[in-house]
Amino acid sequence: MLLFDIVFNGNDAMYEEAVKACDDAIAKYGEDKAVGFPETAYSLPCYYSETGTKISTLKEMKEALGYIKSLMTRERRLDSAFQSGVATALSAEFIEALKYIDGAQPYELPYEGHFSDAKIRELGVPLVTGDIPGVAVIIGEAPTAQEAVDLVKSYQSQGIFVALVGKCIEQIKELGYKTGFNVRVVPLGEDIASVIHIVSVALRAALIFGNVTPGDRAALQKYTFDRIFAFVNAFKNLDEKTVACGAGAIYYGFPVVTNDMDYTPAVPKSLIKYEDVSQFNPISLEARNIKLKITNIDIPVAFASAFEGEIIRRGDMQIEFDGSRVDCFELVQTKELSEVEDHKIEVIGPKIDDFEVGSKQSIAYIVEVAGKNMQSDFEPVFERKFHSYINCIEGVMHTGQRDMIRVRISKDAHAAGFELEHIGEVLYAKIKNEFDAVVDKCQVKIYTNPEDCTKLRHELAIPAFDKRDARLLTLTDESVDVYYSCILCQAFSPSHVCVVTPERLGLCGAVSWLDAKATNELDPAGPCQVITKEKCIDERIGEYEDVNEAVRKFSQGALEDVSLYSIMEKPMTSCGCFECICGIEPFSNGVIIANREYSGMTPLGMTFPELASMTGGGVQTPGFMGHGKHFIASKKFMKAEGGIERIVWMPKELKETVAERLNATAKELYGIDNFTDMVGDETIAEDPETLVAFLTEKNHPALSMDPMM
Ligand code: SF4
Ligand code: NI
Ligand code: NI
Repeated sequence: MLLFDIVFNGNDAMYEEAVKACDDAIAKYGEDKAVGFPETAYSLPCYYSETGTKISTLKEMKEALGYIKSLMTRERRLDSAFQSGVATALSAEFIEALKYIDGAQPYELPYEGHFSDAKIRELGVPLVTGDIPGVAVIIGEAPTAQEAVDLVKSYQSQGIFVALVGKCIEQIKELGYKTGFNVRVVPLGEDIASVIHIVSVALRAALIFGNVTPGDRAALQKYTFDRIFAFVNAFKNLDEKTVACGAGAIYYGFPVVTNDMDYTPAVPKSLIKYEDVSQFNPISLEARNIKLKITNIDIPVAFASAFEGEIIRRGDMQIEFDGSRVDCFELVQTKELSEVEDHKIEVIGPKIDDFEVGSKQSIAYIVEVAGKNMQSDFEPVFERKFHSYINCIEGVMHTGQRDMIRVRISKDAHAAGFELEHIGEVLYAKIKNEFDAVVDKCQVKIYTNPEDCTKLRHELAIPAFDKRDARLLTLTDESVDVYYSCILCQAFSPSHVCVVTPERLGLCGAVSWLDAKATNELDPAGPCQVITKEKCIDERIGEYEDVNEAVRKFSQGALEDVSLYSIMEKPMTSCGCFECICGIEPFSNGVIIANREYSGMTPLGMTFPELASMTGGGVQTPGFMGHGKHFIASKKFMKAEGGIERIVWMPKELKETVAERLNATAKELYGIDNFTDMVGDETIAEDPETLVAFLTEKNHPALSMDPMM
């Protein structure tokens, strides 16, 4: 059979299935029944991004089937096959959306099904930094279960996000392989239609980060082609529906590699046939032109960003170092070149085997660095990365920082040969790799005697942290001569620029002024550039001629001018990976903030994904602003509109996280005690009336401030 006919047949089959599912649902629920995926602001995201139309009822879905049909021309031309691929994808989306009707939860772990917008936003930073260099979609049954595991593991250890569809899920489950969003190996579903959930991620990325106008099909296709490094591995025996989905994948720029040698003809660079499954990895990477960030680390377990979210349960742990119970810390110290022997790693004290299995112990590790260009300001920048470095070790979990750390090592990792010096190896390799411009030599000392840890914590670490905190307090927007730009997110948000100042960190929460300074020092032509601040235009909103010039340049003219301190006048743009979104609440004259982790309702009548969809893609949207969590307690938080006094509502958990610092700022600026007691949360109000009543009772300052609009 010709490839065209296979695609057309597969498309027809998927379309018929969608029609039937829709008709069945209408018969059961009536045509006014609501339909859509949970926790997204984009209704049926694929259909919405392709057409600009949001489907909200079965009636609208039924009508939309007519549009899909119009794509299904049956000419033996490439374009007709591609449009049929898109029609197959959209049909699959309808089938999947109908599974969620009436609040149903069609997928249970390990199956993921639909991804929330928040999850996609969470992937923003690792995607732009290259920690997730690509997305692999694996479909069907591998020749053997072991080959399925080997392929999945090969991608996972490169940091590639893996989505699984069909029989391969059973196969890797059979061999006990761990899956989950946290380890970036995600089973979507058994049925081929479930592949749409990963397509939906790619298309929503275009809307969330890329500012693509829904319905602008050409821009959408260009975005996925240029910026989403996804590909498909499909095992034999391919059926017609899978091939039709493959045509859709190729349309969006995602090559398909298969070991089905007879069924379909190959298409150069797009549909690649290769018998040996063990070669799928390099073939796919080459076909999609994926470049890997490689750090060679000599440890007996895997090291990849995919393991960053891995959780080690109590029963699985060989040992735990727990800074909340005993003295522990991690520290970077600058030394003279003569004091450091490069790559020396010492473990001073007992080894893992000397401790009882499952026990809580002390640990202290000190990374000593030396280099001609090293500055003590970089110490906290390196140190803050330890969390991610150590977490990326397979079978090791790290939380906290400074002297409040917790490190768990799993029994499996230890059985594979993992010892404490390997923590040193990882820290050494990563520091030398990422900070080579300023670190000439690096050595690591790991202490495990409780007496050493106690003594060093009190005599060395705490004084060092105190000194750093004192230095940070002196870092204000006024006290420094320059700010920094960050354009890392332009990989996905082509015109977005963050202006990073001491009192306003990047909206992703991951780039502080010190981080930006270090990035600039390490890579002078890189994403962070110096911005002078000599020509002040308006002190109130924080507008500078030099900042404007920089923003114009780095946004390639897309952005004219920005203020640093206003949410209403020339606000800074958002890309999409912001930790929090702040929006004005007209009834109280204030603003509400929602963080990405919050899945409930806000008094604006919108959830986080809905609020977040109001801004992004590098455009200015007065009244809405994406920002980092840390910014909430800043004296510069929308200072032009009156500052943090405007905050009237936050999710409870976020409020608790920021309470100490926020209350300190409120006390200092306005003399208010326990400001957060005046701020509403979801347990107090989810609608404006209840919120205003609460604020009135608490005499919240926002109520008597000037209107914001
Ligand atoms: Fe992206 Fe801004 Fe964070 Fe840089 S500082 S990574 S541009 S969000
Ligand atoms: Ni880990
Ligand atoms: Ni971003």
